[in-house]
This record gives sequence, C-alpha cells and structure tokens, in this order.
Amino acid sequence: MRPARLMKVFVTCRIPPEGRALLAQAADCEVEQWDSDEPIPSKELERRMAGAHGLLCILSNRIDKKLLDAAGANLKVISTLSVGVDHLSLDEIKKRGIRVGYTPDVLTDATAELAVSLLLTTCRRLPEAMEEVKTGGWTSWKPMWMCGYGLSQSTVGIVGLGRIGRAIARRLKPFGVQRFLYTGRQPKPQEAAEFQAEFVPALQLAAESDFIVVACSLTPSTRGLCNKDFFQKMKNTAVFVNISRGDVVNQEDLYQALVSGQIAAAGLDVTTPEPLPTDHPLLALKNCVILPHIGSATIRTRNTMSVVAANNLLAGLRGEPMPSEFVM
Ligand code: GLV
Repeated sequence: MRPARLMKVFVTCRIPPEGRALLAQAADCEVEQWDSDEPIPSKELERRMAGAHGLLCILSNRIDKKLLDAAGANLKVISTLSVGVDHLSLDEIKKRGIRVGYTPDVLTDATAELAVSLLLTTCRRLPEAMEEVKTGGWTSWKPMWMCGYGLSQSTVGIVGLGRIGRAIARRLKPFGVQRFLYTGRQPKPQEAAEFQAEFVPALQLAAESDFIVVACSLTPSTRGLCNKDFFQKMKNTAVFVNISRGDVVNQEDLYQALVSGQIAAAGLDVTTPEPLPTDHPLLALKNCVILPHIGSATIRTRNTMSVVAANNLLAGLRGEPMPSEFVM
C-alpha cells in the first residue's frame, strides 16, 4: 500500500544505479529526475523544485536563496552527491531549518589516488612526454631530455590535513618523502603524528615545499589562498597540485607563476570555471596538466556515493538520523 501523501523528491541529474534503485523503492516518495546528461538549466530547476520536500543535487548545482524560495516551505532535506558543500548557501539553508546530507569518507581513497596520479603525471611531465612520442619529438635517448622532479627526499606541503589530505600523505610517504608540512585553520597534532607533519603558516609551506597539494575545503578563509604572494614564495623547482576547488587558487596569479617560471608546474583537477573554456590560456601551457574534476570518479565510489546520498535523503525526509549529515 502506497501512503496517501507522497513526499516529492527531485534529483538534478542521472545518478548511479544503486542509489537510483533505493529511491525507486521508497514507497513514501514520488521521485522526479532530470533525465539528461546535460546540466539542468537553473530556471528549469526552480520550476521542478516547486513544492518539493527533498532535493538530491550535485556540486555543479547552485543551491541559493532564489532556488530555496522557488522550492517553498515543503523543502526539508538537501542531499548532495559530494563531500564539498560550497555550492550550497548554508546560511539560507540553516535559516529555513533544512537538513543537509553529504558524502564524506566514501570518496577519500579514490580522491587521494587521483591526487597522487596527478602529482606524478605533472612532476614527471607525462602528457608532454606522450605528446613527443606521437609527434616525432622523440628522436633519441638524451640525458637531459624530459627530466622532471621526483618525490624521493622531498618536502611535501599539504594545504588542509583533513581526511583526504591525510590519505594523500599516507600514499606519498612510501615514495621516500623526507618531510611533510601542513597548513590549515589549526594544528592537528594527533592526525599529523602519523607523518611527523609540521604545522606551518601557508607562506612558510609555500617557501619550503617541493610539492604542494591543496586538499582543503573551499570556505571564506581558503578562497584565493593560493595567490601571487603564495606563488612568489614557492621554489622555481616546485610543483603545485589542486584537487579541492578552483576558487582556492587565484588562477590569473597561477598562470603568471607558470609562464614566468616562478614555479615549475601545476596539476589541476579543479578550475574556475568548470568546465574550463577550451581556449583558456592555462590549456596552452606545457607545464600545466588539467583534468575535468574526476577526483572521486571510480565506478564503485560513485555508486557508493549515490547510495549514501539516497539514504541521507530518505532518512532526512523520514526524520531519522542520516548516515552522513553535514552539521551547520
Ligand atoms: C568533489 O569534489 C566532491 O566534493 O565530492
């Protein structure tokens, strides 16, 4: 027997099968989905959200005052298929007493793997080397050709020693990293002990690291953190990697640092905007490797994320504890 009054749920994109099945089986919900691989236009999202009780969204959906007003007073739960919540206007959401679910932990390993892949790809210049093979630039073995930078005996600086930052450090340690530095809101002695990582101010981390990996969340205090001052402090042999959010970096300042040789190279899984226009100047640089925000993109991880997101949504709608509630 279906309950007389169904709760209306809107899902902003196609999601992996396990999460989709959980929603489809929920007898107390009427689920609508944006059934396309193209992103839902914001006007359409506003229209489809009217009267909804629950929303399952992704990081490219901006959940702001306008959308919340369009949704109306029924809205009780927002479940995002991401660990980041910077696309949600948390103040407005809190004011309305709406609960938020997110997907931490389950994507930590996949994201850390991607960060290490991107770091190695960038510091050993793999895309450039592959291009040389294809275009005939590989004429012979030459002692000084295609040399990059190795992790052995290096100093690695992690911006944000959270779950993902630590998972990255854990994976980098066996490469022979000599010293770990980290920066963030406050020292985390217990977490840092595993790597004997030293807490330092951001500019000291910039000055002393051979490799920098940005793994913090985007907040008002991290927005634009990696700017001209930061890049000017870096060694000209240092490699910069960002797997968090594009807005942690001042992209114009990064571009100047890469073009001028102020820093050796950058690997970015995140940019501003996303997607980056194909004629963006960063894409013309050989010492910049850019990926399309694929940190958590393994089949298993995305499936698990969809399960957590669906369960967060259903639990929130039913007034039960969520598997992963974002506490505001
Ligand atoms: C990815 O960037 C996420 O926030 O899950």
